[in-house]
Amino acid sequence: MTVFRKTIVCENVKQAAEMLKQGLLVAFPTETVYGLGADARNRVSVAGIFESKQRPQFDPLIVHVASLQQVQEITTEFSPRARRLADHFWPGPLTLVLPKHPRIPDLVTSGLDGVGVRIPDHSLARELLTAVGRPVAAPSANPFGGISPTTAQHVLDGLQGRVDGILDGGPCGVGVESTVISLMDATPMLLRPGGLPKEDIEAVIGPIAQATSNPEFSDAAQPAPGMLSRHYAPRTPLHLIDCDSVCAAWPDQKCGLLTYGNAPHDSDFQHIVHLGDVQDLKTCAANFFAGLRCLDSAGLDVIIARRFPNTGLGVALNDRLQRAATT
Ligand code: TXA
Ligand code: MG
Repeated sequence: MTVFRKTIVCENVKQAAEMLKQGLLVAFPTETVYGLGADARNRVSVAGIFESKQRPQFDPLIVHVASLQQVQEITTEFSPRARRLADHFWPGPLTLVLPKHPRIPDLVTSGLDGVGVRIPDHSLARELLTAVGRPVAAPSANPFGGISPTTAQHVLDGLQGRVDGILDGGPCGVGVESTVISLMDATPMLLRPGGLPKEDIEAVIGPIAQATSNPEFSDAAQPAPGMLSRHYAPRTPLHLIDCDSVCAAWPDQKCGLLTYGNAPHDSDFQHIVHLGDVQDLKTCAANFFAGLRCLDSAGLDVIIARRFPNTGLGVALNDRLQRAATT
């Protein structure tokens, strides 16, 4: 049975920090998406995150901190490579999986030896983390498997009555989740493409390997934990087309189109969301989840979405599209 929580939406960082310290669940803005935060060292609060989102316990949580010193307090090793990445990309949309200190409960990492850590690049998030003074575990603030939230209203739409507070910081600037890199082995491993392109990371530390999911393993045993084949999914069926295909609506179906750039489309779409220019994948990413939500609430039979060029931020966007389209 899920406990009903009275949800307060506020813009007051101090109030949100007090609530987190008391063990309550507070959603807060980051540059990527809104996170559903809890004091990472409070097991009961962390258990509340899994309950609130209906998230399986094999899917580990990212821990958010305000400073490098705090990173060192929750890890047992901070290698020169980790330091170089931190110097280049923090604060920012990069999560590093590093050896976990025992002071972070196993529940946070789903029993894994590594903990995902990041310093977010959002002024309210960092003010909040500084005011709390403790590491904050936070997955994206949406019911498990659904579309990630990029505004406070999206959080309310999905989690009203399941979260104690929502700190409203307006829309998120990056719009897709952080890139997750594991530094647990000799070769750095990309576990999730995200808001920081792989090419940018390789320019700093050289080649990184790519974790691929193994169809013979269950979701709980994949090499990249939490990378589930179906995720970020609208309720409306989603159909993908290649980036250079003609956008044609399906006969006798109420069709929506998720597109970008100036690709031609026929006039039979009921609803079209245009995310931005093809040269401007940053704007496309910032609008992506809100665009998907908009089409999902338009009463359509099917959403047709164009894949992105598979480079830079397009890799993260295609990853989200692919999982959203998986049935
Ligand atoms: O941008 C983001 O990363 C957002 C904001 C709120 O920071 N957070 C986010 O969290 O996307 P979530 O829970 O939706 O995705 C976390 C994913 C897990 O599903 C898993 O793929 C990876 O990050 N992850 C987290 N901790 C890990 C660990 N210890 N080892 C391996 N992968 C981990
Ligand atoms: Mg998520």
